[in-house]
Amino acid sequence: MAISILILNGPNLNMLGKREPGLYGTGTLADIEALCAAKGKGLGLRIDFRQTNIEGVLVDWIQQAPDSAAGIVLNAGAYTHTSIAIHDALRASGLPVIEVHLSNIFARERFRHHSFVSPVAKGVIAGLGPTGYALAIEALAGLVSGDTPAKKQKDMGAGRRKVS
Ligand code: DQA
Repeated sequence: MAISILILNGPNLNMLGKREPGLYGTGTLADIEALCAAKGKGLGLRIDFRQTNIEGVLVDWIQQAPDSAAGIVLNAGAYTHTSIAIHDALRASGLPVIEVHLSNIFARERFRHHSFVSPVAKGVIAGLGPTGYALAIEALAGLVSGDTPAKKQKDMGAGRRKVS
């Protein structure tokens, strides 16, 4: 059976397309889901894509994740900046997590600069729009297949052509 990746989206991401299009673009969450499905298919991964506006539902899904998924891509929306509960659930899950944000949270208001997700994430992608989700899936595919960033760098070095 194909390896499964859980892609979780938090509050207000259901409003993409209508919500601050100057900041988040005109694409919808359904467009992002289609992008993720295509990316997953290309990598032979099963993609389970979800959204909720409720913090406790995100916690429930993260708690259940180890039963069905090998890793999590998470855009927790505003809960990124507030939720110790999500931090705790991610930590307890033991799964590799890639944090994604459509916008560059570090180039925005100060209150968005702190993330409770980042300390328990393997990596963070912010500011690249929907492409960030595709990159996160690719990174997670490598991580769940045993690729660490250090191993990858070593493999790249081994494959490098010698230039004189
Ligand atoms: C967001 C950034 C958050 O600060 C914000 O609350 C969101 C979306 C992003 O994808 O850029 O809801 O996570």
